[in-house]
Amino acid sequence: MSQHLLNLAHFTEKDLIELIDLAHSFQTQDPPGYRYENIFPDKKVASIFCEPSTRTKLSFEIATHNLGAQYIDFNLANSSIQKGETLEDTVEAMMLMGVDLCILRHTDSSIHTLANKFPALQFVNAGEGAVSHPSQALLDLMTIRESKKSFDDLKITIVGDLDHSRVVSSFLEAIQIVGYKTITFCGHPDLCKSYLENSIGNFEPDLETAMADADVVMALRIQNERLTEKLTISASEYVERYQINVDSLQVASPDAILLHPGPVNFGIELDYEVSQLDNCKIKNQILNGVGIRMAILTRLFSQA
Ligand code: CP
Repeated sequence: MSQHLLNLAHFTEKDLIELIDLAHSFQTQDPPGYRYENIFPDKKVASIFCEPSTRTKLSFEIATHNLGAQYIDFNLANSSIQKGETLEDTVEAMMLMGVDLCILRHTDSSIHTLANKFPALQFVNAGEGAVSHPSQALLDLMTIRESKKSFDDLKITIVGDLDHSRVVSSFLEAIQIVGYKTITFCGHPDLCKSYLENSIGNFEPDLETAMADADVVMALRIQNERLTEKLTISASEYVERYQINVDSLQVASPDAILLHPGPVNFGIELDYEVSQLDNCKIKNQILNGVGIRMAILTRLFSQA
C-alpha cells in the first residue's frame, strides 16, 4: 500500500487478501465486532466530509478509536470554509496543528491535488464524487470472502444506478484484481449509459435474466443527488422492473448473497423483506466497514 489510500490502482491480489485478513484478525465473535487495540496512541486522524455520510464516517471514527488514535471530527458547517477559506488552507491548518492523516469525502477529485501538495500528511479517500470509493470496495470484497470460497468462479450481477455510483467503479477496480467469472450489469438505460457496452461484463436490461444463477447480487440506489436530468421511467415502473425482492432473488444461485452499500431506499431498489433473508449481507457490510478501516489505518500508519 502506498502512503495514501486514493484508489486501488497499486494493489496486487496479495495486498488485497492480506488487508482483508488483517481486518479479520481484529474481529471478535461474541459479540460480533472489532476489538480495541491501543496501537497508535500518538496518531491524529481528521475527517472532512463535504458530502453526507453515516457508514463511512462513523466506521472510520470507530476504527480510529479502536486503534487508540485520536479522532478529530471536522465540522464543515461551522468551519471557516463558510467564511471563504479554501479546502487547501483548511488542510494546511490541520497539518500545522499536528494532524497525521485526513479522511476526505468530497464532490470532486481534490484529494489527489491535496495529497501532492501536502506530502507530510496521509490521505484516505472516503468518497470522490461519482468517481471512486475504495474503502467500500475493500469491505465489499471482505464480505464476499466471508461467504464464498474463491473469487475466480463468481457470477456477479450489479443492479441499479451504475452511472452515478462510485461504489461500482471501485468495486470493478477491486474485483478485476482478485478475479471473477462473469459480471452482468442491469438497470434502466437512463442510469447505465456507461455500461451498455463495456469490456468488463455484459449489460442485460431484464432483471430476471440478469440475476439468473448469480452468486453475488449487488443492488444500488438511485443517486438522486447526482441526477442532472429527469428520468424517462416513472417511480412505479422502476420498482416494477428493477426492484429486487424475495421472488426475483429466487432465480439466483441458491446460496447467492445480496449486497448493498447503503443507504438503502427500501421500497425502491430493494423490498424490505429481502433484507431479512440469511443470504442478505448488508448488515455484515456495515460491520465489516469498521474492520476494513482498522486494517487500512494500520497499514497506512505502519508505513508513515
Ligand atoms: N456506503 C456508504 O458510503 O455509505 P455512507 O454514505 O452512509 O457513508
